Amino acid sequence: VRNIVFIGGGNMAQALIGGLVKAGRPGASIVVIEPSEGTRRRLVGQFGVSARSAAGPALEMAEIIVWAVKPQTFDAAAAPCAGHVGAALQVSVMAGVRSDAIVAATGSERVIRVMPNTPALIGQGISGLYARAAVDAGDKAEVEAVLAPTGRVLWFERESDLDAVTALSGSGPAYVFFVAEAMVRAAVEMGLTEAQGRELALATLSGASALALGTTDALALLRERVTSKGGTTHAAITSLQADRVDAAFVRALHAARDRVRELGDEFG
Ligand SMILES: NC(=O)c1ccc[n+]([C@@H]2O[C@H](COP(=O)([O-])OP(=O)(O)OC[C@H]3O[C@@H](n4cnc5c(N)ncnc54)[C@H](OP(=O)(O)O)[C@@H]3O)[C@@H](O)[C@H]2O)c1
Repeated sequence: VRNIVFIGGGNMAQALIGGLVKAGRPGASIVVIEPSEGTRRRLVGQFGVSARSAAGPALEMAEIIVWAVKPQTFDAAAAPCAGHVGAALQVSVMAGVRSDAIVAATGSERVIRVMPNTPALIGQGISGLYARAAVDAGDKAEVEAVLAPTGRVLWFERESDLDAVTALSGSGPAYVFFVAEAMVRAAVEMGLTEAQGRELALATLSGASALALGTTDALALLRERVTSKGGTTHAAITSLQADRVDAAFVRALHAARDRVRELGDEFG
């Protein structure tokens, strides 16, 4: 196994590290650079990795560097690493930060960008991936192996497509929770308990997803199968359409995509 160094040991790094350790990678092959002492202690205790407060020559043993800091922190985090990390494959999970900026900060052309989402924590995430031209098939296979415990992966040819991936699946879990919240609110208004509403809403969302994943039928067809003319579902869908909820959702995803582009302009 190649040695991995994580720069930043927050939520997304922990999801990836947890998956790697569960899949049998020895914690000793993982180093985390993380300024917060509490987080370092937790990482060492939970996963058996080694953790350091600051970057330095120790980074030179790294064959893979995973950038998992906030986009706003990237410049500050990269400065002390430059000069030590150029030989490694650079893997970034940072939203927005473009691979040109990573090449400039690290001196390595071997950059893979990954846009994961939080269901990675339970192995049910999906990540969008983009590799620069200097990345070879062995590097790609290595990154797929790193991500395998977090769920599925989907490669993209154009780096700009990762902005759309961020808007869809990166931010997407929040849209699902938003819909679930509204379903629970309606449940309570109709006299069910919050717990009953939550169980019904979440089981319905995951069941409907599983049903759709198991077929190639169009989503519209699946919807129409639940919607008999003049029936209850028809009343609900008619109300959603009158409120133009579909258009509102499409606009919301455009807003997310615009925001990630802004972050990219701002932080590289
Ligand atoms: N969470 C998601 O759903 C998600 C999805 C896709 C992509 N991402 C991307 O993943 C990245 C990390 O997100 P996150 O949610 O994991 O954030 P996070 O929990 O805040 O993790 C960032 C970590 O980096 C540490 N850090 C700060 N400055 C540092 C430095 N100079 N050197 C090394 N580490 C430093 C922070 O420590 P302190 O707490 O002490 O500041 C924190 O532990 C972001 O770029 C985000 O765009 C996140």
